[in-house]
Amino acid sequence: MKLRLNHVAIAVPDLAASAAMYRDVLGADVSGQMDLAEHGVSVIFVQLPNTKIELIHPFGEKSSIAGFLEKNPNGGIHHICLETDDVAVAAAEMQKAGKRVLGPPKIGAHDHPVIFLHPKDFNGALVELEEVKD
Ligand code: CO
Repeated sequence: MKLRLNHVAIAVPDLAASAAMYRDVLGADVSGQMDLAEHGVSVIFVQLPNTKIELIHPFGEKSSIAGFLEKNPNGGIHHICLETDDVAVAAAEMQKAGKRVLGPPKIGAHDHPVIFLHPKDFNGALVELEEVKD
C-alpha cells in the first residue's frame, strides 16, 4: 500500500479561536467551517504547502469528539489521516492483518470514502484512511 499524509486532526474546544490562532499567529491559510452531520464534527482546515491540519469540534448530540474533549479539555491530537488509492482494498488488507476497522466506509470532508482503524492496533493513534485517486 502506498500512503501519503493527508492531514493531522486536532480536537479543539473553540473552533473559531483555534482557526484565528493558526491564521493570525502562525500566518497559515484557514478554510471556512464545514459541519459534517454524519461524522458528528465541525471542521476547519489549515492549509499548509505540504499537508493540512484539520481542526475538529463536536457537532450535534452524539459526537465521538465530545468524550475526547472531556478527557482533553484544552484539545489534543485526535487522529492522523493517510491517503490510500482504494479504501475497500485497504480495509480488507487491514482485516487480514488482524487490525480492527471501525465501521464501514463513510464519505469524509472532501467527498472521498474514509475508514478509521482502531488506535489500540496502531500504537495509540487513531488512523483515518482516505481514498484519493491520483
Ligand atoms: Co480527518
